[in-house]
Amino acid sequence: MCGAIGDMVAQTGTTSAVKVHDPGKDPSPIIRVRDMTKIFHNRHEVTAVNHVSLDVDQGEIFGLLGPNGAGKSTLIRILTTLMRPSSGTACIGQYLVGKDDEEIRKIIGVCPQNSTIDLDLTAYENLEFYGNLLNVDEETLPDRIHYLLGMVKLTDHTHVPVKNFSGGMRRKLEIVRAFLHHPLILFLDEPTIGLDPDSRREIWDQIKRLNAERTTIILTTHYMDEAEKLCDRIAFMNGGRLVALDTPENLKKVIPSGELIELGSPALDPAVVSLLQHRDGVRSVEIHDHVLRISVKDSSRVLPVILADLEHHSVRVQSITIRQPSLEDVFIYLTGIGLEGG
Ligand SMILES: Nc1ncnc2c1ncn2[C@@H]1O[C@H](COP(=O)(O)OP(=O)(O)O)[C@@H](O)[C@H]1O
Ligand SMILES: [Mg+2]
Repeated sequence: MCGAIGDMVAQTGTTSAVKVHDPGKDPSPIIRVRDMTKIFHNRHEVTAVNHVSLDVDQGEIFGLLGPNGAGKSTLIRILTTLMRPSSGTACIGQYLVGKDDEEIRKIIGVCPQNSTIDLDLTAYENLEFYGNLLNVDEETLPDRIHYLLGMVKLTDHTHVPVKNFSGGMRRKLEIVRAFLHHPLILFLDEPTIGLDPDSRREIWDQIKRLNAERTTIILTTHYMDEAEKLCDRIAFMNGGRLVALDTPENLKKVIPSGELIELGSPALDPAVVSLLQHRDGVRSVEIHDHVLRISVKDSSRVLPVILADLEHHSVRVQSITIRQPSLEDVFIYLTGIGLEGG
């Protein structure tokens, strides 16, 4: 039904991501989405997800990045079996979403956008309740809970009611809660929304640590720094559509202005401007206050040529800076709008 990776999941059971991953092999898709569409029939028809097709490779951190209303949560809800698509298919391993939902729920962990943690229960009680719901072996559950609370530095708060926790502590508890049953795939919907910078960084570390155990992680975010720091690949979503999908590095190459090389030099002869302007891959050259600003398509290819030219003309270079466009720049270039929805 859904191919080779599914067979591997089937052979090794549903418990551990470590077992199925062979680091010697190329990653292969563990999630396959084909022509997925979700239409809500409100007062007006809303196409929340519009003919989206994508693959997520096993073991990667995959980001869905887009402004509010882009369709990220809807896509996550469909993949986590909480909502039916209007059309299209999705496979998780060999399992078909909408048909094998019970099996899918055993191999995924979900941390939804809106908190579903019980504030009156302690951290331990929350995890215990959820562990029972997920059928985690009763004998191993206490150890697992203590291990996970230690992992997110909440050991001191094991028996404290969650209503006394900060926003960051609650979010960390929710993330490890999704991880209680060693899922193959972890879905995190806006894991750091509304948190302070320190808590956000801690959660990023946490996500990286979970991924180091070869858990595939799909996260949604409208923070470009989050996507950039964490994700191996990023899918840009806007208005329900998939706008682009690639590594952060490659996405930035989409912008025609490419990168900006800034070379500091005490003595710059305007003649070097016309010389460099004719080099392959150079888009524009300007001199500003002893700094040569060269807009290029790909600095790794062009920089050696430029430096050789300058040396040939005895121009001494004191500093070299290469600035890449941000993911926000790329998103604006592709969609005409910013990630904050502006
Ligand atoms: N349950 C629902 N009923 C009706 N419309 C919905 C529902 N969920 C989401 N939408 C609409 O679908 C679009 C995408 O929403 P959502 O998937 O939550 O986006 P995101 O997570 O990227 O912010 C929005 O226009 C939203 O108003
Ligand atoms: Mg959302």
